[in-house]
Amino acid sequence: MTQVLEAIVGLIWGDEGKGKSVDERATEIKEKNPGKRLVVVRYQGGNNAGHSTHVTLPNGKTIKFVTHAAPTGLTNNSDIAIGPSVAFNPESFFGELMQAQDLFNYDGRIMISERAGVLLDYHKLIDISRESSKAPSGKIGTTARGIGPFYEDNARRVTRITFHDYISTLFPKKLKEVLELKRHELEGLGININDLFLELVGRHEHVRKELAPFAKNLEYRLREYLNNGDSILIEGAQGTYLDVDLGSIPHVSSSHILAPHAFASLGLPRKLFRVIGVEKIYPTRVGDGILPTLSGPEFGEIVVERGVEVGASTGRRRRAGYPDWVLIKRAVMLNDCDEIFLTRADVIQDLDVKVCTGYNINGRVTDEVPFDLSTIISPVYLHQTFRWHLWDEPTGVDKETASRILRETRSRYVKEGFASLPTGLLDFVSMHDKYVGCPTIEIGIGPHRGETV
Ligand code: IMP
Ligand code: MG
Repeated sequence: MTQVLEAIVGLIWGDEGKGKSVDERATEIKEKNPGKRLVVVRYQGGNNAGHSTHVTLPNGKTIKFVTHAAPTGLTNNSDIAIGPSVAFNPESFFGELMQAQDLFNYDGRIMISERAGVLLDYHKLIDISRESSKAPSGKIGTTARGIGPFYEDNARRVTRITFHDYISTLFPKKLKEVLELKRHELEGLGININDLFLELVGRHEHVRKELAPFAKNLEYRLREYLNNGDSILIEGAQGTYLDVDLGSIPHVSSSHILAPHAFASLGLPRKLFRVIGVEKIYPTRVGDGILPTLSGPEFGEIVVERGVEVGASTGRRRRAGYPDWVLIKRAVMLNDCDEIFLTRADVIQDLDVKVCTGYNINGRVTDEVPFDLSTIISPVYLHQTFRWHLWDEPTGVDKETASRILRETRSRYVKEGFASLPTGLLDFVSMHDKYVGCPTIEIGIGPHRGETV
């Protein structure tokens, strides 16, 4: 393997399995390129993301590690970077870094763009207060991490505190100015800005000092990776339908999520990269907003149980629906995807899988995603349904043995490759690829690192 340049992005509403996909790619790249660097870069969003990876520690124990602010590269000792469009929460980032150093002796190089904006407590307080004061119909169902208020402040410019400001000795002065500009809004929430000022300055002193060495003129540093033949993995957070402009408005996040934005914000050339869309085989949504193929006890609820579909950031239960290829086809178009990683095929085994290939809007069938999802009267499903069986659940054994048997079964599929997968699944994939116009090159069949065919 030589230099790998890839952007890995989500094709639905987040939670597609990007964390696991990036972790697997990073592990593979590192194994095959000893002596070469690999950097995993976050380019948007903040600690509203939740990327779960299941990793085996040196002592053989498997743990679930979740990152919110830091790129998944932490779990495989890759270098990591934070781009200028990220909503950077320094305390959350630092906490994850410390945890990774304890667990995996993390020693990768860390780079934080001086241009990244810093997300602070007041963003979160404003986010929470706005959401709780709204009638249910006006709610976005945010993750309450302050993302919306952060991006407003960034766009307003005078209220933006960059990472450069944050680590400088002038931080207290800058913070005071910003709080003054926000006085009206914050006092309206019952916040005393002098108290908040003192608290923030005190609490952040240590983290500012610890993170200061990582400030970089990032676009130049990333160019060096490119020119040295080192690898770059760009890691998306959230997903296509949460994009601030092209997502399902108004129930979107506040960042630019689509892959083309990654290249613009990191100063990297699209033409040298492969764009990989991560597609969970069935769509889920957490927070408010419509899920066109939402399904009940016959499919969706079973899937939520089996797939443990609970938000990694907020612990909220997700909603699940039948595969919706209309959404995916548009996401492939918007992200300019070269390839697809399909995840969680195991979760829907032994179910009758319906596939949506159109929407009925006012009695007309279309294969376009409308601006307003509430105009969809009903999804239009293919006549054909799909069904596959990957393994029998081990019975009459303890949990540990069952999990070992399952892992052996999955690794057999991995060893034997695509052709060994059940025909029901292969038929599904071949029709999927034709419909969405992009080839599936990996299929996830289990939660652990490497359980991907
Ligand atoms: P915010 O990003 O916290 O402002 O939330 C806006 C919308 O995006 C809400 O519907 C959230 O549930 C959703 N959202 C934000 N981040 C994620 C994510 O990482 N996975 C899934 N949904 C997310
Ligand atoms: Mg997630």
